[in-house]
Amino acid sequence: MAEKVVLAYSGGLDTSVAIKWLKDKYHLDVIAVNIDVGCVKDYSALCQKALDIGAVKALVIDGKELFVKYFVFPALQADALYEGQYPLSTALSRPLMAKILVDTAIEEGATTIVHGCTGKGNDQVRFEVSISALAPDIKIMAPAREWKMTREETIDYARKNGIPIPVSVKSPYSIDESLWGRAIECGVLEDPWTEPPDDVFTWTTSPSQAPDKAQYLEIEFKRGIPVRLDGEEMDGVKLIQQLNEIGGRHGIGRIDHIENRVVGIKSREIYEVPAAMILLQAHQALEMMTLSREQMRFKEKVAMEYADLIYNGLWFSQLNRDLSAYIMSSQLYVTGTVRLKLYKGHSLVVGRQSPRSLYNIGLATYDKGDIFNQDSAKGFIDLWGLSVKTQAQVQLLGDKEGPLSIIGPEEPEES
Ligand code: ARG
Repeated sequence: MAEKVVLAYSGGLDTSVAIKWLKDKYHLDVIAVNIDVGCVKDYSALCQKALDIGAVKALVIDGKELFVKYFVFPALQADALYEGQYPLSTALSRPLMAKILVDTAIEEGATTIVHGCTGKGNDQVRFEVSISALAPDIKIMAPAREWKMTREETIDYARKNGIPIPVSVKSPYSIDESLWGRAIECGVLEDPWTEPPDDVFTWTTSPSQAPDKAQYLEIEFKRGIPVRLDGEEMDGVKLIQQLNEIGGRHGIGRIDHIENRVVGIKSREIYEVPAAMILLQAHQALEMMTLSREQMRFKEKVAMEYADLIYNGLWFSQLNRDLSAYIMSSQLYVTGTVRLKLYKGHSLVVGRQSPRSLYNIGLATYDKGDIFNQDSAKGFIDLWGLSVKTQAQVQLLGDKEGPLSIIGPEEPEES
């Protein structure tokens, strides 16, 4: 009996070719598993295609709810953005896929998990680190790293073997989609000076073509999790799908990022992330109302660590648990509603309210009803500036060049 392997099957060119290649070269029985994190339209067509190419079994597993609950929403609560720009749409999906692949391999009695990543990307790292954390004895194969075919050669292989070439292959881009966003690489995008052409974008209208009428949205959060959209209670999957739709229509969520990959390469990445952008913006606006200054400063550091950890493939780590515990605790009072205005590629927060708001009109107002004690400001400033005043007198004002030398440092020379 042939050895069984579980293949992470996207239905794209590489993983389709992999089915045939594994069968011909290593005589393996391939079980193709697609994990739907938000973009599969036709489950049975996807399975049929894998079977037609030669898989012994094909499954599509709906991972949308798990993805949103255990990956997307924690990242939203954290305000996680890799390098301040990328909401981690691909990166967040990989550990979930790894978990489902491992479970399936065990159920099916497979010895090996196969993925379609090349040796240049982050996804191979995320898959393999996660799989080996969850099941150290399962073997891993990466045919696209092994066969060393160029894209042209892969297409040729598909043609020769009667493997249907997906429509997406006719486009020069490499694409990955989840509910949390769409990532586009390759083709003309590899020139960082070239503006992304219109055909790159499929989720978002060009801002110049977006509706002339602004649209308002109200998003209600409970402990940092969005629970209602425009007053209607909604599960996370549906809420994100709707926001992708609405935001996309208004041209929101295009990102052009020169990104530092784990493997040491800088790459040019284009993203479309309407829902992520709107939700992150709304969530942060609510935090500004409900977290103290100290919590916000600290949380920013945690967000950076958390984003790096997700990007770098370290999801299944105790550091994740440690950071998650803080993030969850920080969300205790992040409850309330944010109002946004969407207009031609921009979303703006225009209102926010919370039963736990720290914004106190009596303290903030310049009008009647002011309860702030202005007399206490003077004594506060005396003490606040005391160390600066002391140091300036002893170390900064006494320079030979005179008082102006304290304005700024000298420019270093180029090497
Ligand atoms: N650069 C992004 C990341 O590493 C997106 C990668 C897209 N993946 C892909 N296989 N096309 O998370």
